[in-house]
Amino acid sequence: MISDGPFIHRLYNPNCYKKYKSFIVYYAAYFTVVACDNNKIIAGNLNPCKAVIVIKTDTMLATIKNYLQRRISAPAVTEKSVVEAYDLWSADYDKQPDNLMLYLDARLFSLLISQINITGKHIADIGCGTGRHWPTLLSKQPADLTGFDVSGGMLSKLNEKYPEAHTNLITDNLFSDIPDESYDVIISTLTVAHIEDIEEAIQAWSRLLKSDGEIIITDFHPHTLAFGGKRTFKHNNAVLAVHNYVHPIYTIKEVLLKNNFSLLSQEEIKIDESMKPFYTKQNALHVYEKYKGFPVIYGIHLKKG
Ligand SMILES: C[S@@+](CC[C@H](N)C(=O)[O-])C[C@H]1O[C@@H](n2cnc3c(N)ncnc32)[C@H](O)[C@@H]1O
Repeated sequence: MISDGPFIHRLYNPNCYKKYKSFIVYYAAYFTVVACDNNKIIAGNLNPCKAVIVIKTDTMLATIKNYLQRRISAPAVTEKSVVEAYDLWSADYDKQPDNLMLYLDARLFSLLISQINITGKHIADIGCGTGRHWPTLLSKQPADLTGFDVSGGMLSKLNEKYPEAHTNLITDNLFSDIPDESYDVIISTLTVAHIEDIEEAIQAWSRLLKSDGEIIITDFHPHTLAFGGKRTFKHNNAVLAVHNYVHPIYTIKEVLLKNNFSLLSQEEIKIDESMKPFYTKQNALHVYEKYKGFPVIYGIHLKKG
């Protein structure tokens, strides 16, 4: 329901909407956003299921200006498509001792995986990359472990380390060659925000899981992504970023809950003082100041049936 309110009108103008999309999508997912001018409501999508926040036009414009300003003043970063970026990143992906996200993901992953007994189970790692979690997974002696990824570069690195590994280079999110209920456990770390049609992907993942299967997902927190957070890496002295989509955590959970899953745990980690040394080493204290207090990574564990 869009009225003629000038502000929302501008937002829904296709050119402006594109620019502000992640900001709007993020808020629209959590709240009914109602813009108002001089206490007169000018626009809003009144969904009774969601909390309502009323944002004065001035406040919303100031927030968006601030958001764009921060994005504009950030150092120049070239954004690449997922496959191109990870093919380039694959050469150095395993050599990042100072990468905060990998460090935090390792913390979350070890907590979540400790909740599942994977010995003797059939495991799929979707968005497996170079197999960063494979030492942990293989140490628990699963029946088999299969990696799926869209980047040939990342899979080659995995295959160098594990020449016998079962890996699949995938080109869509449907897993058409894989029969229903093939796996006991799916893990997917730091991947879902790279997938545009997340509902299609999660729907397919739930088809692949057995009737009592479990799934662990971790990723960059949508809150940070919505405020301009990026996954970046250095390549030939340039800073490159990988394209991300902002998927609210509840969208992912909603698809799984509709497919008869229940939530066993949900965790998130916020940026705090203890993480400052990572930013100092990367010469990125401005990023630390910008995102201090923001939830930067989340993890969820759900079970089917
Ligand atoms: C940040 S890396 C994470 C790799 C590994 N899971 C880890 O935690 O180190 C993201 C990976 O997801 C892969 N990816 C992106 N989109 C994908 C998709 N639609 N299906 C499967 N893999 C995907 C990328 O190629 C990349 O290897």
